[in-house]
Amino acid sequence: MFLQNEVIKWACPSNIAIIKYWGKHGVQLPRNASISLTLSKARSETGLYYSPKVEEKSKIDFYLDEVLNESFANKIVSFFDDIIHLYPFVKNFDYVIKSHNTFPHSSGIASSASGMGALAMCIAELEVALGLSLKIDIQKASHAARIGSGSACRSLLPVAGLWGEHCDYTNSSDLHAISIADEVHNVFHTYHDDIVIVSAKEKSVSSRAGHGLMENNPFATVRYTLANNHMTSLKSILQNGDVDAFGTLLEQEAMTLHALMMCSAPSYILIEPKTIEVINLIRKYRAESKDPLYFTLDAGPNVHMLYPHSYAERIKSFIQSEIKPLAQSGLIIEDQVGEGPVKF
Ligand code: PMV
Repeated sequence: MFLQNEVIKWACPSNIAIIKYWGKHGVQLPRNASISLTLSKARSETGLYYSPKVEEKSKIDFYLDEVLNESFANKIVSFFDDIIHLYPFVKNFDYVIKSHNTFPHSSGIASSASGMGALAMCIAELEVALGLSLKIDIQKASHAARIGSGSACRSLLPVAGLWGEHCDYTNSSDLHAISIADEVHNVFHTYHDDIVIVSAKEKSVSSRAGHGLMENNPFATVRYTLANNHMTSLKSILQNGDVDAFGTLLEQEAMTLHALMMCSAPSYILIEPKTIEVINLIRKYRAESKDPLYFTLDAGPNVHMLYPHSYAERIKSFIQSEIKPLAQSGLIIEDQVGEGPVKF
């Protein structure tokens, strides 16, 4: 017998890619393997209310911060269709989904990774609640999250997630992410990611379109080879805790991502003048202080500043005095590496 109006709630963090996923094929399959650090504070908190469906088709109501959002609800209808081979029971219910992001709406931070991650965890737990599985299958949940939004699959793993098949990493797969937390030096477990919001405007070119433009990018093949080589280099860097080698690779990946955008056809630019100002200040500070403060960028203008906890006092004081004045409305989201999704 089905339960009426039961609820399952999961919070899932965002993640920041060290080796970037940029270029895809088929159903969200990556052109190259990627690795990210899992964050903790920037997360989505999602409640999945479910009851036996009343009509032939499942009904889904989606609320973002208590406001009904029809366009998200439509996306979730197709997401549920797309994961039916993994979780056939999803078609048996009507749903009310209530979601909230801990980062401000106006921050320009994409919520697709944390949002899809949280929803995938709710579905994975529903499988357990229905007695169809003895425990949550993270691999399967990560597979479903990937179908929702590629990089979301890495958010389900503690500390660091690896997605995409690569010869140096056993059990790596294009279908889902795996945890490499045990192979990561302690110093990276303490990492901070302070995100300078340079602009909160919606991106002029979406990630989906950006991935698509990689198909005809003249540097695509070179990029995929480079990403594979970076995956190899990062493995030993993560093991031995070399924070400067880590940072150098981090910045190279960010610059490559944006260079690829600039030489796409049509070409586009997502960084802004202030992005470059922040980058120059970070590099100047690093040259003078020798502190391992390095940056990376997502597909947008905001700058992620990464550094180990042992340097936090000095680096935070530099950020307050020199970087904060460049942030839109002074907004800097102070995050740290975390343990992945949490039930609440
Ligand atoms: O998962 P998507 O389709 O939003 O693409 C993510 C792309 C980057 O954030 C630029 C890189 C990554 O690996 O997260």
